Amino acid sequence: MSEQTLSKTTLTETKNASVEIHGLSRAFDGRTVIDALDLTIEQGEFVALLGQSGCGKSTLLRILAGLDDEISGQVTVPSRRSAAFQSPRLMPWLKVWRNVVLGLPGKPDRALATRYLAEVGIDQRAGVWPKTLSGGEAQRVSLARALVREPELLLLDEPFGALDALTRVKAQRLVGELWQRHGCSILLVTHDVEESLLLADRVLVMDAGGIAHEVTVDLPRPRDIGSPEFVAMRTQLLAWLGVHDAATNAAPNVDGNAAA
Ligand SMILES: Nc1ncnc2c1ncn2[C@@H]1O[C@H](COP(=O)(O)OP(=O)(O)O)[C@@H](O)[C@H]1O
Ligand SMILES: [Mg+2]
Repeated sequence: MSEQTLSKTTLTETKNASVEIHGLSRAFDGRTVIDALDLTIEQGEFVALLGQSGCGKSTLLRILAGLDDEISGQVTVPSRRSAAFQSPRLMPWLKVWRNVVLGLPGKPDRALATRYLAEVGIDQRAGVWPKTLSGGEAQRVSLARALVREPELLLLDEPFGALDALTRVKAQRLVGELWQRHGCSILLVTHDVEESLLLADRVLVMDAGGIAHEVTVDLPRPRDIGSPEFVAMRTQLLAWLGVHDAATNAAPNVDGNAAA
């Protein structure tokens, strides 16, 4: 093996539960999108990732999921990991429960699928076709499909970006509960500053190909969006994102991708 080959490191899967990224770069057609990015995620840590539309958040998640290996740098991820994206991507020709266990080794196990559908509150929909689900229900199925793999790392790319406000609040609460129950690490890409501060231990702001800013959210859960600490962190994050804090509590949409 040549020196060249040896130095071109890509994704390493380990039994460890933490994520280690050193000097990660990714370019498309000569345009650098991720530029020598460093990031560590501890076992069981909930990290939220914010950033302007097009800054490379989804690119980073796809790399961590193992869907893109045209990279340089060192990336170490747990082998047991799964992802859910903004679009639930269910197979329309498979009943809901079969979607949940699709790709698992062995015979499709309906009881197993139903157990995870129950965790996300829609086991009564196990036997229907995906096209009969609402957007929120489809997103829950997508979450069940990620959880059935008992991941050590759960990658969530704007999973609730397309949901209405009420469904979104319920889904946020669900993700918080699932995280506490399963103890996995989560990397959540979101365009919603308030959501990031409600859920995460640490909020990152991506810019210019790297992690430009971060804030540790050292507040007890459930969090009070009206507390002075919460408000101060929100103001700081919005400033980093180049958005002015509005008088309302409405979270701004700083990511055009997420328009419902
Ligand atoms: N497969 C691809 N081919 C070419 N350009 C891409 C590809 N995927 C992403 N990009 C570009 O990389 C940049 C970052 O994209 P993305 O990671 O989707 O941003 P974000 O998720 O932060 O909105 C964008 O400019 C996008 O156009
Ligand atoms: Mg994206």
